[in-house]
Amino acid sequence: MRAYDLIKKKRDGGALPTEEIDAFLEAFTSGEVPDYQAAALLMAVYFRGLTPTELSAWTSAMLQSGDVLDLSDIPGRKVDKHSTGGVGDKVSICLAPLVAACGVRVPMISGRGLGHTGGTLDKLRSIPGFRVDLGVERYRELIGEVGACLVGQTDRLVPADRKLYALRDVTATVESIPLIAASIMSKKLAEGIDGLVLDVKVGSGAFMKDVGSARELAQTMVGIGRSMGKQTVALLTDMEQPLGRTVGNALEVIEAVDVLQGRGPDDLVEVTLALGEEMLSLADVARGTPARDLLRRAIEDGRGFEKFQQIVRAQGGDAAALEDGCRGLPHAALRRPVAATEAGVVVAIDAELVGTAAVALGAGRERIDDEVEPAVGIVLDRKVGESVAAGEPLCTVHGSDEARIGRAIALLDEAFTLGDAAPEARPLILERLV
Ligand code: URA
Repeated sequence: MRAYDLIKKKRDGGALPTEEIDAFLEAFTSGEVPDYQAAALLMAVYFRGLTPTELSAWTSAMLQSGDVLDLSDIPGRKVDKHSTGGVGDKVSICLAPLVAACGVRVPMISGRGLGHTGGTLDKLRSIPGFRVDLGVERYRELIGEVGACLVGQTDRLVPADRKLYALRDVTATVESIPLIAASIMSKKLAEGIDGLVLDVKVGSGAFMKDVGSARELAQTMVGIGRSMGKQTVALLTDMEQPLGRTVGNALEVIEAVDVLQGRGPDDLVEVTLALGEEMLSLADVARGTPARDLLRRAIEDGRGFEKFQQIVRAQGGDAAALEDGCRGLPHAALRRPVAATEAGVVVAIDAELVGTAAVALGAGRERIDDEVEPAVGIVLDRKVGESVAAGEPLCTVHGSDEARIGRAIALLDEAFTLGDAAPEARPLILERLV
């Protein structure tokens, strides 16, 4: 394999044979192929795409670059959910325990925040003591004993993706549907799952801004899952405005606990139940009772919350911190309302701007090595369709530093659009793809 020949073939629109893709990704992961040649090939893929055969070979080669976990000795079907990322998307935190409380094993490996979108790991780290850096042995134990775990990527799973993703990030080649699909699916398939539910977010707060590109990404990922023998379902869900009413790490954990305690906001509850139904059905645990009823029961009788506390304890966290309205989680020292200057009805909330405001407060990272502040964030006092009088708050900023709060408020002032009448309600679940 000569890297030069592969780059030229892809540049000119040719298809790469499986053996060449394997050899290239192996040589890149081991450091034999330099970054500049890998970057050139990534750019050629960005413009030329990958055929289904190439995509399957690319994903398999990424998967085989590290450990592929085998959980087959643990009884029961293992089903995970992956979201392509949004603003206020704390679904994993309530969904994993809820689904586990219904008898499904949920091995969930999550990421940290990316750009304006928050990451599950950053949110969970706001629980005192909670560890996400557990080794493979502990991961296996938790799935066997507790039924779920919420951890971060290890160095040994898909090392090719870590190197490729870093290179894509600095060579303007992230936004390629085959490269995104291979990156996400290789990491999910390395977890040892039997089934996967994909939540592909669409709208101003998502990486996919329109339904067409979200559908193409979803179809591509479902196709990869199927070609690898894993049951895969994708829902396209709305991310035109933030999900729920909180954005920011500890604030989002509090809202996820609200869902588990039966007082979550309608949109967050709906997306959680819709994804949960799919997970229960892939795990084949519903058996005659509608999956939604099982999930609702696990909320009503407290089993979902108990399971979350069990996960938190098993991962070294202080489960008591989640009691009495999450009194033990960090709370911000400063609160500043962002008031409406006139009366009206909220007709749009730009989710990307709200996410960027949360990052400005310190809830996410502006540089790769920034420390995330657990307590800061934004509470949305009004959502789309709700009316506000002049001087009433549209949202409340929770911060730790006046300069950062000022930057966030400037962005939030732009994020809300008021009108005379409520817009037609948008469906939360836009499409289902299998
Ligand atoms: N998330 C990933 O894991 N990979 C991508 O390429 C994009 C988003």
